[in-house]
Amino acid sequence: MSQKISGVKGMNDLLPGEIEIWQSVEGRARDVFGRFGYGEIRTPMVEDTALFVRSVGEETDIVGKEMYTFEDKGGRSLSLRPEGTAPAARAYIEHSVNNQEPVTRWFYMGPMFRYERMKTGRYRQFYQIGAEAYGAKEAAQDVEMMDMVVQFLESLDLKDISLNLNSLGDEACRPAYHAKLVEYLKAHREELCGDCQRRMETNPLRVLDCKNEKCQAVAAAGPNVLEFLCEPCRAHFNDLQRKLTGLGIKYVVNPRMVRGLDYYTRTVFEFIAAHPALGTASTVGGGGRYDTMMKGLGGPDVPAVGFAMGLDRLVLLLKESGKKFTQAPDLFVVAVDEGSQDLALTLTSRLRREGLRVDFDTRGGSLKSQMKRADKSGAHFTLVLGEAERTSGQAKLKRMAGGEPIPVTLDDVAKALRAHRDAAPA
Ligand code: HAM
Repeated sequence: MSQKISGVKGMNDLLPGEIEIWQSVEGRARDVFGRFGYGEIRTPMVEDTALFVRSVGEETDIVGKEMYTFEDKGGRSLSLRPEGTAPAARAYIEHSVNNQEPVTRWFYMGPMFRYERMKTGRYRQFYQIGAEAYGAKEAAQDVEMMDMVVQFLESLDLKDISLNLNSLGDEACRPAYHAKLVEYLKAHREELCGDCQRRMETNPLRVLDCKNEKCQAVAAAGPNVLEFLCEPCRAHFNDLQRKLTGLGIKYVVNPRMVRGLDYYTRTVFEFIAAHPALGTASTVGGGGRYDTMMKGLGGPDVPAVGFAMGLDRLVLLLKESGKKFTQAPDLFVVAVDEGSQDLALTLTSRLRREGLRVDFDTRGGSLKSQMKRADKSGAHFTLVLGEAERTSGQAKLKRMAGGEPIPVTLDDVAKALRAHRDAAPA
């Protein structure tokens, strides 16, 4: 017997039964983001490795440890995208979008790849729904974006998700904070993991999001970034909070949150769900402002803010909610003999063309086995076709939930079905 081939670890198949939840979330995102004026973009799944090195940062876990990097046949170093912000910025620069409009709002959804240690809610191919707004440096843009996430989560009926906020300052005030942080970390050198002992010199902020528990304990007692903000950064952060309060959006300021990517300036935020279904993977989304990244990638001096939600994690939460996402067929046609099989094929074809969700068992089989299948399909109605129906052109629609059968002519099944379906109690 030949050996079975399994899927790649950390990469999941999505099958009917579950995919409906994904489609529903994606649909809500398209709807809500559209209301905020965001247009969808699709960028390739593979990019030049240097794009992520120069934006997300060489010392981050994402780039340093988790990227799927390979050489193509032409000897180029390419990487599967670990996130969507850098590819979107690359596309923005490449298409000179800043010359076409002062403010641009884009969203995207699709798979991202990180070679992470797997657990519930953390995979190696995972899906993000993200958005980026280019051209506005004002706190109002950050707030509008957070409002969009809040409205998106509301549209999914997801509750108990808290918004955490912080400001990481900018190139004017961050050096002083860095210096203080390095001084503090040096004093705790022995307590840090080997990676952090190195990062402390090369990129001290990354020590703060190290997954090692000891490093986390050191980070928790370190200097507070908010105490180092310069006046413009402080004003921006205050304005942000005032505007959030104005919209009735609740938040918590968390000065320890730095996020695991290098490109952020000023605002950073995370949406955290307190739900056991997610285990420790409780961050359902995160983002922030990155006013200098575009320039750093050789593009124009355009400020930007964005976020990404983890679709896999949203789906885990929705599965727990017990809500139904699958759509049952309107009708299951049962054909009791061979002649009726042909009629079932033409009848179902016609009904589907007329917009109804219709099923029938192409294998035929006994009345009992087909009724069983009809029952399992969850169809709202069944219609049995036999010799009598074929010759008379008349049949009966039977509501699976019970009640008197409804006589119909075979020409009028769609009309009758619609009338009775719409009149049916929910
Ligand atoms: P991130 O925090 O790295 O940010 O990822 C955003 C979200 O993606 C996380 O909050 C989480 O829900 C989900 N996620 C990340 N890694 C995994 C994984 N291995 N398995 C399942 N879900 C995961 C970014 O990627 C930034 N690009 C966000 C952003 C957009 N910042 C500005 N614009």
